[in-house]
Amino acid sequence: MAYFAKTYPHIVFQPSDPDRDHRASIAAWTDGLENVNAPLDLDTTKNWQIASVDAFICVNMIHIAPWSACEGLLSKAGRHLASNGILYLYGPYKHGGRHTAQSNAKFDADLRHRNAEWGIRDLDDITATAVVHGLTLDATVQMPANNLSVIYRRVV
Ligand SMILES: C[S@@+](CC[C@H](N)C(=O)[O-])C[C@H]1O[C@@H](n2cnc3c(N)ncnc32)[C@H](O)[C@@H]1O
Repeated sequence: MAYFAKTYPHIVFQPSDPDRDHRASIAAWTDGLENVNAPLDLDTTKNWQIASVDAFICVNMIHIAPWSACEGLLSKAGRHLASNGILYLYGPYKHGGRHTAQSNAKFDADLRHRNAEWGIRDLDDITATAVVHGLTLDATVQMPANNLSVIYRRVV
């Protein structure tokens, strides 16, 4: 968030996290950045009272949360994104039910050991749910360490 905000000073960023300590961390990292608002307490599985936004950015969340958090995010993006707005996801993903790297398989096992509801998601499942909420897969970009940037667009 801090990196994006410094790189794009003409864009206003609205961070959020349902965890109080994580919001304090965000506030510390973005202190002094005039284009970053104070973090909001938003949980993707609950109701949001927010206006329309041009883009959502979600980094390293959906594999470290229950599947309902991903479903909620996709639902919120479908409801609150402006026409042609994008949902940007970053993290590790499976394809066709298979891991793309041994390191991701190991990470997935570790996540599931820590919490049975966590785990690396399959991009096919995410995209199928995204479509239900009016989002289409626009692009996937390979990133370092077997991560992906994934971009969905609300086309209405
Ligand atoms: C691994 S941290 C990633 C934090 C940050 N995006 C980063 O990359 O440093 C995962 C975050 O997802 C948040 N999270 C978990 N469930 C969530 C939900 N249902 N709605 C919104 N955020 C959630 C957690 O509070 C936590 O801050």
